[in-house]
Formats: sequence, structure tokens, C-alpha cells
Amino acid sequence: MSQPQPGTDHTDAPPAAVAAVVVLAAGQGTRMRSATPKVLHALGGRSMLGHVLAAAAPLGAGTTVVVVGAGREAVVEHLSAVAPAARPVVQEEQRGSGHAAQVALDAVPDLEGPVLVCNGDSPLLTAGTLAALVAAHSEAGSVFTVLTAEVDDPTGLGRIIRDEAGRPRAIVEERDATDEQRAIREVNAGVYVANAGTLRRVLAGLPTENAQGEQYLTDALAPLVHGGAPVAAVRAEDPVDVLGCNDRRELAARRRVLNDRVLDALMVAGVTVVDPATTWVDVTVTVGADAVLQPGTQLLGTTRVAGGAVVGPDTTLTDCEVGEGASVVRSHCSRAVVGPAATVGPFSYLRPGTRLARGAKVGGFVETKNVEVGEDSKIPHLSYVGDATIGTGSNVGAATVFVNYDGVAKHRTTIGDHVRIGSDTMLVAPVTVGDGAYTAAGSVITDDVPPGAMAVARAKQRNVAGWVRRRRPGSAAAQAAAAAGDAGTANAADTRPRTDESRSAAPGTDLDQ
Ligand code: UD1
Ligand code: CA
Repeated sequence: MSQPQPGTDHTDAPPAAVAAVVVLAAGQGTRMRSATPKVLHALGGRSMLGHVLAAAAPLGAGTTVVVVGAGREAVVEHLSAVAPAARPVVQEEQRGSGHAAQVALDAVPDLEGPVLVCNGDSPLLTAGTLAALVAAHSEAGSVFTVLTAEVDDPTGLGRIIRDEAGRPRAIVEERDATDEQRAIREVNAGVYVANAGTLRRVLAGLPTENAQGEQYLTDALAPLVHGGAPVAAVRAEDPVDVLGCNDRRELAARRRVLNDRVLDALMVAGVTVVDPATTWVDVTVTVGADAVLQPGTQLLGTTRVAGGAVVGPDTTLTDCEVGEGASVVRSHCSRAVVGPAATVGPFSYLRPGTRLARGAKVGGFVETKNVEVGEDSKIPHLSYVGDATIGTGSNVGAATVFVNYDGVAKHRTTIGDHVRIGSDTMLVAPVTVGDGAYTAAGSVITDDVPPGAMAVARAKQRNVAGWVRRRRPGSAAAQAAAAAGDAGTANAADTRPRTDESRSAAPGTDLDQ
């Protein structure tokens, strides 16, 4: 089976037609011990159910039925978001996988032709594996074909019983298997192709005499064999593809495999992944050639990283776009656009609506939200920038805050081209700073600044000479001041009367003492 390509997770195998796809997703998933239905647990950017549907999508089935039951509201809501064309069908009571398949077929009574039936908890299935199964089914003229795999540890899975000639005879669940059958390492993948009419007939007669008192879909095979119908069991090329997921340990293991596949495909396509063990990339992400992913990088959702960009170390990008040659270092970004050759970090937080144009810079300890930063503009240090437009070639000094929220509503700040915002400026929105204007460090800017003006909005500085000598006698500061030439005796208490300037100091400050 070929590896998934970045941004897609199917192969170029020509799609083979099935009339319908049925996904069994009604089970409790008890072993997950979760309030979330099992099939909604996520790995690699999709739910388990989402992965199964994505693998089946290239088959081009006209009808997709998803059997829902446990946690059905959540599953139905999820389906409407990720696969609106899929039809949820409710299995009121979870009476087994065979019963679930029957409920699905009852919902499409006129359906004929081959049907793909899949467990909803097989997130590693690939389109190629499914296409090969469907092709084998039709080539063999089979009425029921089961996908199988040879695994090292078959514990918990249904075993494939073959006769001396290698023909499939039955599928036996582990709970119901003899010791001899348990030694078999060929297992049922929980993926089947069957002709709709045949399947309807055989499902209607399924027994419940088994360890769980349920109707097993796996019990459909033996009666067909006895009736002389042509059946087949097809081994998956890569046994990993068929692994199910029943508890959180398996979820973690499947997530690792999925991630390895994605990273392999990226590396083959020319992406440097410095440390595959700590780099996590969703199947929905694309990364261009010669991009470098440093250790501790997570690329999630619809993130797109262009060629030559450097991401990481220790960076999480969710639904972001990173342009060619850009770099994002030790930062956390969500729904942000980092333009070509722009730089971010270390230690910055880009929130939704942040758009950095070509060559723009967001440095260290900066938070941005809903802001357009023009070409070559910089926000180098320790700032909050929200609800703003910044023109080109402007600089926002350290520790500047865009004061965008008055407790009721958000307001915008507009900064023109080639503006210099002094360090520690408070820009109280709504406010506009015109092209080429400056603001003085420490200013609280509440009024618009015309182009080319210097806005100063801070108290004038006053130095109270000799204050340390008088008020902190004997201190290290007083000694340092004396050594630097401050007049008077650093070690003696100052007995002079208060000076005018100390009396006029603001009440509550030390100057008053
Ligand atoms: C099933 C197979 C087993 C196979 C394994 C592969 C049966 C009886 N056994 O075992 O041979 O090796 O998958 O992973 O099928 N479901 C419903 N309604 C129900 C019961 C189950 O929709 O009433 C769905 C589940 O949501 C799940 C699938 O059917 O997606 C399989 O059920 P599960 O309980 O996970 O079966 P396994 O024990 O894994
Ligand atoms: Ca299972």
C-alpha cells in the first residue's frame, strides 16, 4: 500500500465501485471509559469515524450509511459537520455488529450490488486497502469478502478459519474460540464487501448463541460457506491498516502510526523533520519542500506551511498559513497567517485573525489578535496588539498595548506606514496614528495623531536632588550616590528641613515623608 500524501490520505488506486458504504458506529466503546462516543475520539486531525469515511470516500459510493446508537446526538452532529452526505441510521439497542448491519440495510431497502461494511473504529484504513478489497471481491465473483491481516498479537480479535485448501470457512470470535483456533494469527479486520441481497438474507438468520449473546456480523460467513456460495478472505498488504481501536492505549498507538505515515510522506516529499518522535502533523496539513520542522512542532487542522519555512522548536500551529521562507519559533498560533519571510517568536501567541504580511516581524512575548500587520512592520517585544491595522514599515515599541476593549465593546486602532510607536505606549482605541507619525515612550494615546506628528502624552519628569541621601541614609544606594559625587554625608542622618520639592510631591509617595 502506498503512503498517504501530505494533505490527502488516499492513494492513486483507481476507485472500484460499490453501491453503498455502511459504517458501524453504534457501539458503546466501553473500553475507552469516556463520555465521548468511541468513534469520535480524534487522532491525526480527524475522528476515528472521519478517517474511515475519508478512506471510503474515493470508492464513490452513492449512499453512505452510518449506524449510530451510543452517544448518537454527538455522532450525528459530528457527521453533519464532516460528512453531510452520510446518512445516520439509529440502532436503538446495541445487539451486535450483525444486527447493526441489518439496521443499516433496512434503511436502504432498494439497495442492490456490492456494499462495503466497515467497523467505525479502524482509523488506519486507507483508500488503497479498501479499493483492493472491493476489486478482489468483484474479480473473485464473491458474494461475501472479508478483509484479513496476519498480526503478531491477535488477542481480542476474530480469527479466520480456513480449510486445508486455504479457503475461508468461518470467523470465530476470541471469546468463542477453541485453544487451537486462538493460535491462528490471521484475524478479521472488521471490513467486508458483500452483495446487498445476500447480506440481507444471511443477516436475517444470524444466531445469538455466543459468549456475548449478540448477533455477530462475523457469523455471516459460515452459513454462506455451507450453502456453497462463493466467499473470499483477502489479506491486507499492510497488516497495520486494519488495526482497530478499543481503548486509550490503542488510540495512542494508532495515533503514532498515523503520524509516522504523515511524516514519512513529508520527508519523501522533501521536508526536513528533525525529530519525528516529537513532531505531530495532522493528515489534513500540507508542508512544502525544504521546509524544516524542528523538534516539538505540532501542525494541526488546515495548517499549510510553504517551502523553505522553519517551524519550531516547540511550536503549535492550528489552522494557520505560513509563507515561504517564514519562521515561527517556540510559539502558539491559531487561525493566523504568517506571510512569506515573516518571523514570529520566540514565545509569542498569534490568535485568530492575525495576518502578517511579507517580511513582518512579531518578536518575543507578543500576543496578537485580529490584526493586519503590513510588510516589514515589526512588533519586536512584549506587546499586546488586538483589533488593529498596521501599515508598512512601522515599528511598535516594546511593551506597547493596543487597548481595544472598554469592557463593553472592542474598538480598532489604525497605524499608518512608517510609524514609530514608542515603547510602553497605550493606544486607547478607537484611535488612528497617521503615516510617519511618532509617539513618545510611555504615552497614553487617546486622540488621533496626525501624519508626521510626535504625540507626547505623559507627565513631565522632575528630579528631587539629594532625596536618597536624606531619606535613605546609610543605604547602599546612598553610598553609591555619594561615590558618584552626590554632595553631603552619605552615612549621617540628614537633619535638614524638608525641601520645597519634597513637600510638593504627590500625596502617598515616599517623597512626602
Ligand atoms: C470486531 C469483530 C472482530 C474483528 C474486530 C476488528 C464482531 C463480532 N467482531 O470485534 O471479529 O476482529 O472487530 O477490529 O464484529 N457496533 C455497532 N452496533 C453494535 C455493536 C457494534 O454499531 O451493536 C459497531 C461498533 O461501533 C464497532 C463495530 O461495530 O465500530 C465493531 O464492534 P466492536 O465491539 O468494536 O467489535 P470488536 O470486539 O472490536
Ligand atoms: Ca473494535
